[in-house]
Amino acid sequence: MDLAKRLDRLPPYLFVEINQKIAELRAKGEEVISFAMGDPDLATPSHIIECICQAARDPANHRYPQTAGLSELRRAIAEWYKTRFGVSLDADKEVLPLIGSKEGIGHMALCFIEPGDMALVPDPGYPPYYLGTILAGGEPYFMPLREENDFLPDFEAIPAGVADKAKLMWLNYPNNPTGAVADLDFFEKAVCFAQQHALVICHDAPYTEVTFNGYKPPSFMQIPGAKKIGVEFHSLSKTHHMTGWRTGMVVGNADIINALFKVKSNLDSGIPRAIQYASVEALRGSQKHIAERNAILQQRRDKLVEVLNEIGLKARRPRATFYIWAKIPQEYTSVDFTNKLLDEAKIAVTPGIGYGKEGRSYIRFSLTIPDDRFEQGISRLLSWHTRSCHCEER
Ligand SMILES: Cc1ncc(COP(=O)(O)O)c(C=O)c1O
Repeated sequence: MDLAKRLDRLPPYLFVEINQKIAELRAKGEEVISFAMGDPDLATPSHIIECICQAARDPANHRYPQTAGLSELRRAIAEWYKTRFGVSLDADKEVLPLIGSKEGIGHMALCFIEPGDMALVPDPGYPPYYLGTILAGGEPYFMPLREENDFLPDFEAIPAGVADKAKLMWLNYPNNPTGAVADLDFFEKAVCFAQQHALVICHDAPYTEVTFNGYKPPSFMQIPGAKKIGVEFHSLSKTHHMTGWRTGMVVGNADIINALFKVKSNLDSGIPRAIQYASVEALRGSQKHIAERNAILQQRRDKLVEVLNEIGLKARRPRATFYIWAKIPQEYTSVDFTNKLLDEAKIAVTPGIGYGKEGRSYIRFSLTIPDDRFEQGISRLLSWHTRSCHCEER
């Protein structure tokens, strides 16, 4: 079979490989505790599920949806942006529902990237930013996110020739995998940089509601001028524990939204209507579950960060996201250390290298595992560490 050459440029999707290894161990009867996947362990709130069930019973919702989504959903998204961030959006021109934000992120490059064009992509970063670029025939330029810069890109370090040649810049705060956050000053600098170099900014913000100690991350769209040069991707996945239902959105510049609509309307038929009604309910209905969930995650965050630092894996306490980005001892690669944890402690994490070269000295823990498994995982880490120390002493 003569497969397209572009497939040769794609690495195996990181989670597929990890899941395969976990499945192999489980098949051998090993009980693995996985801190690897960023997928909320809590159920979708019942008022949202009720809405899906009701809508699913109506035959009108059994037919093809539309790429643009229901007008009611676009309006609910615009209202939510107004209430949450004070950002005004035209629900018909500046809002587009997505079949999960990953879908829109992946398709975005097709709107701007010609073969050989560049996109500026954070390293470490959520892989679809650079994978979409590659699928469109483009070249990612990786912007290092380093601890000494609080995991923000240094725009001044990007060579002018690269910035001028690039078409798109991807940003993501609160950040996966580092847990870092960005303030409005940073977003303002990003908008200036984009204006200087005629770049489009795609800001990916699915974690703005997964936060601790009352922190409220801003939206990139709050910056005057952001709407002229960019869009923001958002998602109901993490906020409302809806990863399995596939619902998200992109908002911002009307021409960019229209370009993405053009690509999508030729490839997909939109979010199933029952899920769209549930999304309206998620956006307009009770938000009580968000604070409750964040309180649970905050306890797990505090416990895990404490234990990781105790066992020599240096980790910051993130203000948002459900990820802990932990530095490993320098004699290991992130893949070696991940395998060591899996083999010796039966703990699965994600190796930092999966998010880019800058992640080579880190591993990522996700806090999204049920409390009892989480506690078991913590005990395993502690006893594994004690065993390893004894081995070294002998
Ligand atoms: C930074 C980031 N963007 C986007 C997504 C995709 O979310 P969705 O479920 O909306 O496709 C994820 C999921 O892990 C993510 O971490």
